[in-house]
Amino acid sequence: MYGLVNRAIEDLVTQAYGSDVWERIKHEADVDIDVFVRMEAYPDDISYRLVAAASKVLEQSPDRILGDFGRFWPQYTGREGYGEILDAAGSSLWEFLFNLDELHSRVGLIYPNLQPPSFSCTDVTEQSLELHYYSERAGLAPMVVGLLEGLSLMFDTPVSIERTQCKEEGADHDAFRITKTIRD
Ligand code: HEM
Repeated sequence: MYGLVNRAIEDLVTQAYGSDVWERIKHEADVDIDVFVRMEAYPDDISYRLVAAASKVLEQSPDRILGDFGRFWPQYTGREGYGEILDAAGSSLWEFLFNLDELHSRVGLIYPNLQPPSFSCTDVTEQSLELHYYSERAGLAPMVVGLLEGLSLMFDTPVSIERTQCKEEGADHDAFRITKTIRD
């Protein structure tokens, strides 16, 4: 994945625990890279190893680390210069979720070798929808839950999130039912 992702993991860890802990995590992950370049594509394995090592060093489950990362990502990308892309994706949570593929297409203009996920929405009503998540990568559904929680905060739209399909359990892709918990 692009260095932008690994830099975000670094930022998340150093903000909360300091740079010594980040160095310990890189050592544990056997990652000998001083500075991640955000526009450089790194093997996915590096990001997975950093998450596994963070889980070990911080004594938190990998799902929790991925969830924290997902919640962090909207504010991180907003602050790192992608605020306009976020703004263009919609002014409500539902509109934003409909436009996630469009958002990554725009990101793809900046990052030409992007291998983005794909999302689609079905069973849409004012109150709830089903979000389908397709990826070539494994194990990132907990990050999507964190992302949805981060977006829910960003749009001040409280929701509950229920996993309705699970790729690890043999489904073709992951899916989530998202329900607004306060009526508009
Ligand atoms: C402007 C904001 C955003 C930027 C700049 C961005 C950029 C990226 C980048 C660089 C990657 C790594 C893929 C690669 O390097 O091949 C990625 C992956 C991903 N993005 Fe985004 N993204 C943004 C917003 C979002 C949002 C709001 C979501 C919410 C669902 C999202 C969901 C994901 C997921 C789940 C992945 C993991 C890759 C996978 O599942 O295969 N992104 N994104």
